[in-house]
This record gives sequence, C-alpha cells and structure tokens, in this order.
Amino acid sequence: MKNAELNQRRQDATPRGVGVMCGFYAERAENATLWDVEGNEVIDFASGIAVLNTGHRHPKVIAAIEKQLKAFTHTAYQIVPYESYVSLAERINQCAPIEGPCKTAFFTTGAEAVENAVKIARAHTGRPGLITFGGGFHGRTYMTMALTGKVAPYKLGFGPFPGSVFHGQYPNALYGVTTEDAMNSLERIFKADIDPKQVAAIVLEPVQGEGGFNVAPAEFMQALRTLCDEHGILLIADEVQTGFARTGKLFAMDHYNVKPDLITMAKSLAGGMPLSAVAGRAEVMDAPAPGGLGGTYAGNPLAVAAALAVLDVIEEEQLCQRSQRLGQHLVEVLQQARQTSPAIADIRAQGSMVAVEFNDPKTGKPSAEITRQVQQKALEEGLLLLSCGVNGNVIRFLYPLTIPEDQFTKALGILSRALAQ
Ligand SMILES: Cc1ncc(COP(=O)(O)O)c(C=O)c1O
Repeated sequence: MKNAELNQRRQDATPRGVGVMCGFYAERAENATLWDVEGNEVIDFASGIAVLNTGHRHPKVIAAIEKQLKAFTHTAYQIVPYESYVSLAERINQCAPIEGPCKTAFFTTGAEAVENAVKIARAHTGRPGLITFGGGFHGRTYMTMALTGKVAPYKLGFGPFPGSVFHGQYPNALYGVTTEDAMNSLERIFKADIDPKQVAAIVLEPVQGEGGFNVAPAEFMQALRTLCDEHGILLIADEVQTGFARTGKLFAMDHYNVKPDLITMAKSLAGGMPLSAVAGRAEVMDAPAPGGLGGTYAGNPLAVAAALAVLDVIEEEQLCQRSQRLGQHLVEVLQQARQTSPAIADIRAQGSMVAVEFNDPKTGKPSAEITRQVQQKALEEGLLLLSCGVNGNVIRFLYPLTIPEDQFTKALGILSRALAQ
C-alpha cells in the first residue's frame, strides 16, 4: 500500500474537518523513530502531539499493557472496580502539586478532563463563571471550545458556545503583554462582564501549548493565586500538554511556589493509551454527588496499566533531569542559529518544552510561511516537526524524552541545516 493511494482513499472516506498534517502513513514506530508504509524513516519530534514523553512502545509500557490484556480489558470502573485504578489515583495524589489531601478521577481524553474539572469547580463553588486566556487551548468539545482562546480553526462555524466564559490576556514578553496588563484585563472582566463572586474558576495552561509555548511568569501565577483566594475562585491548571516531565519537572506547576486547586492531565500520562485525569484538593473533588462523574471507558484498565508503567519509567530513567538537559542542548543550538537567522524572533523553553518563533525579517510580522519552510526542509531530511502559535509561526519541539543520544544529535544537525536556509 503506497502513501499516494492511501491519501486518495482518505480524501474519499473521511471529512476534511479531520485535518491531517503528513502525507505519509504510519506502519510502525519505536521510541523516537517512525516508519511509514513505504519504509521511509522519520525522527519523531511530534510524539503524537506531546503524548510520547516515554517514546513509542516503551518496553515496560508494552509489557504492562500485555499483562493487563491477558486479565481483562473492560468492566466499566463504575460497575466493577479494579485495584489498578485506585493504585494510580494514590500515586498521582502523592506526586501532584496540590495543597493538602488530594483525590484523582480518571477519564479518557484531555478535553474530557477539562470538562470534568469545570463540573467539579461549579459543583464546589455553586458559581457559573469561568475565566480563561487568549491563545489558550483546552479541547474540541463544547465547553472546551468555549474555554479555548483561538477562533480559527477550532471554533469556526460551531457556535453558539456555553456562556459565562470570559477571556483575559495571557502575558507575552515578545508582544509586550506584561503580568500587570494581564491582571488588568481580569479587572476589566470583573467590571464589564461578571462579578468575581460569580466566578467558579480561572483555567490556564502554565505553559500555553497550541498557543505557542508561552510560559506563565512566576509573578503572574502568584497574582492569580492571590486573586483566586481573595474572591473564593478555584485555580485550575490545565497540564494536559505540560505534564509528565515535559518541562523538566513532573508537572509544570512544580516550577511555581503556588499550587492550583485542580489539575487536568492526559497525553503523556499513559504513553499512547487514551487516559486523562483530574486531580485536586479532596474537598473540592468530593463536591459532585455519587454518579456525577465517570464515563463508560473512563479509567480503562489497559490505559491505567500503561500509566502506572509510565510513572515508573519517568522515575527509573530520570526523565525530568533528561528533559532539562536535552532542552538546554536544543536551546543552545537554536541560539547558535539565531546569530545567522534574522527570521528567529524568539526562543522559549521550560525543560524540553522548547519553541522557536519566526517573523519575516523584512516586515517584522509573524511568518507562518517561514515556519512551514523550516518544517518542510527538516522533513525532507527525515525530521518531523510540529508548528503552533496563534499566528502559526512557532515550531514546538516534542521529542520523546527517551530519545537515544546519537539520534538527538542527528536531529539537531538536521534542524540547524533547516534553520540556515
Ligand atoms: C492544554 C490542553 N488541554 C486540553 C487538550 C485537549 O486534549 P484532547 O485532544 O486529548 O481532548 C489539549 C490538546 O492538545 C491541550 O494541549
């Protein structure tokens, strides 16, 4: 089966709304390498959009799934529970940056985790309002579309959205948005749109993912915590993309000296299996009545087994430390390239959550075109890169944190050549 033939079948059989980035089709994958149906090999710096911090098919993750496969694959946890779900909750409760006793519930997708965090926050506070930020991304379901701060392509043609959702400004040094500006934007919302005493939660990504890997400054997180405490608002950290060692710590919130009330997680939690979670302060998590939370597949046993193995691998292979080291190395390569590439407008990094932003050197305006060229050039040499950013002018690096050293060096060589173009 050839890529061209599959592309034709795809176009005939599936809607265009399910946009597809690559013109080649996966056949198999191992750690940071992916082979297509024609036998071509690529170094995977996309990791299925931040899902494979422990790489494709980590042997320990595969062994855990295989073991569970031989026992049972589904009972519906809410009907017949199983020990592994409780074990995983206990482990997350121990390591999640939550103040005091913590509880965790499992779901299937990142959007579902965010939906449930909103349900829990509303049940606990008895308030309707939600505040999120421009450039944020929280998913493709109705509430998460409403929370998302980017119209095209995520919201185009899909309205109306659930109400009581307001967007503040997220700090952005490159575009001159300070923490003070961002906090003022929340004050404007409280004046123009909603009484803070009617706000259930502020939802934010500690590092915006789709929005361009913008890192929330420490003083911003501190100011949000203070604001939340003043008005009885819950702080929800959406760590779907930032979690599980990507930023050099298990959670991005571990970089801050304040804690959120709830954390959503998914993606790299289960190394390629669909699993998400909401962890949070026990009294908040217990607000919904029995039966209010769950889902037929929520906390699927195969995915839970994979997640337990993922947590072991992160610890045993010291992936937080490796994330920091690989990220530093990549940043050095990008800084080197910047000396000769005037199109590089910014380099941002927290651990291995690294991004490079491109502007047109002639106009100084964001350039999605230059970004595409770099991506294309890298792919020609076998390196798969992902873009992001409100203007589509950012390349984000999401390699497996288990990538072999020599393959990482090879990938950085390809990247340097692509940037030199
Ligand atoms: C921060 C964040 N929240 C939520 C989501 C939605 O997750 P999912 O696509 O699994 O529904 C994503 C996905 O990219 C994300 O990056």
